[in-house]
Amino acid sequence: MGRSETIYLDHASGTTLLPEVKSCISEWLDSDMGNPSSIHQEGRRAAAGLDKARLSIAQVLGAKPGEILFTSGGTEANNLAILGAAAALKAKGRHLITCSTEHPSVLESFKSLEKNGFQVSYLECDENGDIDKDAFRASITDDTILASFMWVNNETGLVHPVEDLAQIARDRGVRFHCDAVQAFGHIPIQVQDSCIDSIALSGHKLGAPAGIGCLYLRKGNAISRMFFGGSQEQNIRPGTQNHVGAIALSTAIRTQADHLELNEQKYLELNALLQDQLQTIPRIQINRNGSRYTPNILSCSFQNIDGEALFIRLDMKNIAVSNGAACSSGSQAPSHVLTALGFDEKLAQASLRISLGIQTTEQEIDDFCKGLRQIIDSLYRE
Ligand SMILES: Cc1ncc(COP(=O)(O)O)c(C=O)c1O
Repeated sequence: MGRSETIYLDHASGTTLLPEVKSCISEWLDSDMGNPSSIHQEGRRAAAGLDKARLSIAQVLGAKPGEILFTSGGTEANNLAILGAAAALKAKGRHLITCSTEHPSVLESFKSLEKNGFQVSYLECDENGDIDKDAFRASITDDTILASFMWVNNETGLVHPVEDLAQIARDRGVRFHCDAVQAFGHIPIQVQDSCIDSIALSGHKLGAPAGIGCLYLRKGNAISRMFFGGSQEQNIRPGTQNHVGAIALSTAIRTQADHLELNEQKYLELNALLQDQLQTIPRIQINRNGSRYTPNILSCSFQNIDGEALFIRLDMKNIAVSNGAACSSGSQAPSHVLTALGFDEKLAQASLRISLGIQTTEQEIDDFCKGLRQIIDSLYRE
């Protein structure tokens, strides 16, 4: 069945390519694929494309081109920032701080460091997923070298006060990494006046293809390489660069930044429509408290519903939403984010993450809510 027949509300997992991205990469796809490290004309052309992409991303973020490292995506950028910082700073200390609701690419990096002699404090969050700034301040010791917090939670859309957390870290001389994979395009990100030392971004959340991302790494912050090979990406991330991906990423980043306010207005309107309609579905719980959420992500749960049956029926109706994060949706394990917020296993499994894209229409929201209501009604009758 084609995508046009699907009600696709899973844009936080992967969103449609932007038309601007399609048109800018098409000219590259039709030409010879030079290697940016080659000295011939095709290689130089690829290198020029890569440089232009790096400069453009740096300009959007208010960074210097040398502070942008291309990676294969958000996972690699998070791994590199965390593992690379821990390796580079281990002579200074071995204590690290993060939060229990982070993305697996962050949590698993910290778990691997624990196996290698580092101590990690996993801060608990409150029932909304909020991080307590005082708890963070209190967790910093003289041995702390790195803290990592996401800007926007990928399952609930909650916006964390990362600028304040980064200021606390800076005051204590602790490096601060931020997973901004779900934040870029919704929150203006400018690094000049920020205390954040590194930021991970991912292409396929922004309208570029999967397989490209980048790490902003503030000048002066040493990082150890995690892979070995050539001297690409300042000797930090070896391997032939994906220059077409980088061009796609830079176009997506610039387009998202240019349209941020306009898009956010549209997301707010769609979100209001979605919430109005969802609220009329029996026994629904909308997992939001207050307004510190990005409007493109909405989590909701159903009491006394079999989560597996719910997802099978959504799929049969050709409705694409997530049960938590895409990377864990193949398994029946309940979301670690929702369980950290105090949900029991059954409620966490009967939870949907609905995520909107720039292309989402009011009609899709109407059709989705109608379909969901039919499914919930029938599941409650059984
Ligand atoms: C918050 C967050 N961080 C990191 C990632 C990983 O990014 P990628 O899929 O590009 O590896 C994701 C992907 O879902 C995410 O939502």
